[in-house]
Parts: sequence; C-alpha cells; structure tokens
Amino acid sequence: MLQIRVKPGIEDRIRGYFPWIYKPEIASYSRKPKKGEIVTVRDYGGKFLGYGYINPEVSIAVRILSFDKEEKINDDLIRKRIRDAYNYRMRLNIESNAMRIIHSEGDLLPGLVVDKYDDYLVVEFTTYGMNMFRDVILDALVDLLKPKGIYEKVNDFANRIEGIEAEERVLYGEVPEEIIIWEHDLKYKVNIPEGQKTGFFLDQRNTRKLIRNFVEEGDRCLDVFCHTGGFALNMIKAGAKEVIAIDISEQALRVGKENAELNGLNGITWVKENAFDFLKSLYKQGEMFDVIVIDPPSFAKNRASVPNALRGYKELCVRGLKLTKPGGYLVIFSCSFHITENHLMEVLTEASYDVRRQVRVVAKTFQDLDHPWILQMPNTLYLKGIWVEVI
Ligand SMILES: C[S@@+](CC[C@H](N)C(=O)[O-])C[C@H]1O[C@@H](n2cnc3c(N)ncnc32)[C@H](O)[C@@H]1O
Repeated sequence: MLQIRVKPGIEDRIRGYFPWIYKPEIASYSRKPKKGEIVTVRDYGGKFLGYGYINPEVSIAVRILSFDKEEKINDDLIRKRIRDAYNYRMRLNIESNAMRIIHSEGDLLPGLVVDKYDDYLVVEFTTYGMNMFRDVILDALVDLLKPKGIYEKVNDFANRIEGIEAEERVLYGEVPEEIIIWEHDLKYKVNIPEGQKTGFFLDQRNTRKLIRNFVEEGDRCLDVFCHTGGFALNMIKAGAKEVIAIDISEQALRVGKENAELNGLNGITWVKENAFDFLKSLYKQGEMFDVIVIDPPSFAKNRASVPNALRGYKELCVRGLKLTKPGGYLVIFSCSFHITENHLMEVLTEASYDVRRQVRVVAKTFQDLDHPWILQMPNTLYLKGIWVEVI
C-alpha cells in the first residue's frame, strides 16, 4: 500500500481526529501516488496516523477513513459504515419518509451523500476516492434499503475539481420524475432530476416545524428564497392569513404552487424575483410583516468569497429587520460552509445598529439530526439559523 509521511507539526491535528490532509502538508510519498488509491498516513518519523484515500491533483489530497491501525479499508468497512449510518437514522424517529441516510464526513464516508425519498434513493459522489467504491456502495444500499430505484445526482463543482466523470441518470431500478414525500403533516412534491441539491432541502426539516411556534392566527409572513415553499406552507398551516413566497427559480415556484394545492392550503402569493430587489421594493411600498424567514443559497463557495458573502448576508439582515413589525420575528439562515455562526451574529449585530432596531435572540438552530457534523471540523455544522424578535 502507498505510504505517505506528513510534515512535522501536522501529526497533532491528525491525531486529534481532523480527517483532511492538504497537499502541501505531505512530506514524502513511498512511490508515485495513483488517483483514488488507499494510503497509509504516517507522521514524519514513520508512526502510523491513519488510512485514507488520496487524490494528488487536489488541495485536500487525503481524506482519512480510519484512525485505527487494525481497521482495514475494504468493502466490508464501507458496508459497515453504511449500515451504521442507516441504523443511526432509524433511532431518530424522523417525522418524514425523506431523510439523509449518508452525510459524507459526518458518517465517516467522506465524499458520499445518500438521500432517501420514500422508496427511492439519490446518491452523489463528490470525491474521486469515494467514487472508487461506487459498486460496493450501490450494492450495500440495495441490500439494506431495498429501494425501488437509485438516481445519481452530479455535483458539477466537485466533479470538476476532483476529475470525476459522471452523468445524472438512474443507476438502479426505476425512478419517477416526481415523488411525493411527507414531512410532519405536510406533503411535498420532489422532482429529483430537475430539483436543486438532491431534490429537497432536507436539512431544514426541524426549522420548518419550529417556525409554526412563531406564527399566530392572522399573521402576514414572508418566505424569502422559498424554493418549493417549505416555510410558506408551514406558516399557513400555523394560521398565517397571507404569505409572500419569493424565489428566482420558476421550476421551484411551480412545484411550490403544486405543494400548496396538494395540501389544500390557500393564502400564498408566489413571486418570481431576485430576492434582494424584491425586499427593496417591499420596503419602498411601506410593507411590514409579522414573521420573515430568509434562507438564501450558499454565498461563499470558498474562503476568498467570505467578505463578499458577508456583505450579502448583511444586506439581507438590514432589509429583513426593516420589514419586520415591532414584536415580529426574523429568521436568517446561512448554509455556507465558510460562514461561521459568529460571522452571522456579527452581521446581524451590525444590521441591528445600522437600522436602529433592537433585537433579542429567541433561538439558534442548525441542520437537522440526520446531518451529523464532525467536532474537529466546525465548518461541517454548515447550516446556521439565528431567530430574533425585533423589538
Ligand atoms: C437554501 S434554498 C431555500 C430552501 C427552502 N427554504 C426550503 O425549505 O425548501 C435557496 C433558494 O434560493 C433561490 N435563489 C437563489 N438565488 C436567488 C435570488 N437571487 N433571489 C431569489 N431566490 C434565489 C434558489 O432557487 C433556492 O430555491
């Protein structure tokens, strides 16, 4: 097996269970590495640190699969990890027939995402190394979950970086274009081939329910970046008289409207607009709302884009605060890996000062429990939500 040694000083971080090794941190290779192969990682003096897979062409060159010398990396280990991930979901009593079954690093299977929508699975391979295990992974998923179909979604960004060649397609059985899932007491249509991410934002399941605690009978609400209406539907369900739901995607709004019909819910106005412009025009028209949710897409794809992203979040906070009635609630989310909870708190604090609106924090939320994160990688707690009452 290929052996690598890391530079002096790197070993402590790996012994502390941080599972990534960046390319410049590698001191030496026992031979020329092959993309995707399994590697033994050693400290500079040669002591064992872990086993991982390597892609010498990318910045995160090694992802550790095990820190245990006795745990060999083979198909049996991959099968065991998949079983463990599934068993963990089964103990969560998730109130839905849709959930994340495998969450990459969070399930010790870096580079693999598997989502379940009713009887169908969606898989995404985001690293070359994990893609090498694709046959055993598909086999294990069929054995364990007995899906009617498996669809492969392609993450273009990751594929380009990692050099994976894959196309979106049905890998097993049959997958209908549209699947109806349920979450709590609502139903949603999920269009896997056309939908964003794997089809639905499963990570907001807990918060879509929580929003109901903040909405009162007759309220006027705003769901900004609504996608297929997850928050808007829950707002109406909680008694809101009117919800304006904004998204830039025509496809998402079409499904959102169908979701409202599917659940027999009225009162949502669907608006296809750029959210930044629309919030500005609402303010100009003197509109105010009792509850506002702002759930934008990731603004920071890498560390270099953090300052720009922060400007975007701040603008959303400013606009959201201005539009919230006194005593109303504003919820701002960030799903950017590179934006921390502190970043979000800071921009909200600045916005509160700038618009002269006092706030008190009533909740902080994170991605739902089927998206576990790694203690040593705080960024894997990627979805942050700050919930405030605007005084
Ligand atoms: C994180 S998702 C929202 C998920 C949603 N809250 C849910 O629970 O399903 C972000 C959404 O923002 C939309 N979007 C991206 N850029 C936008 C823009 N400039 N204006 C409005 N919507 C935008 C995307 O189409 C996507 O549906």
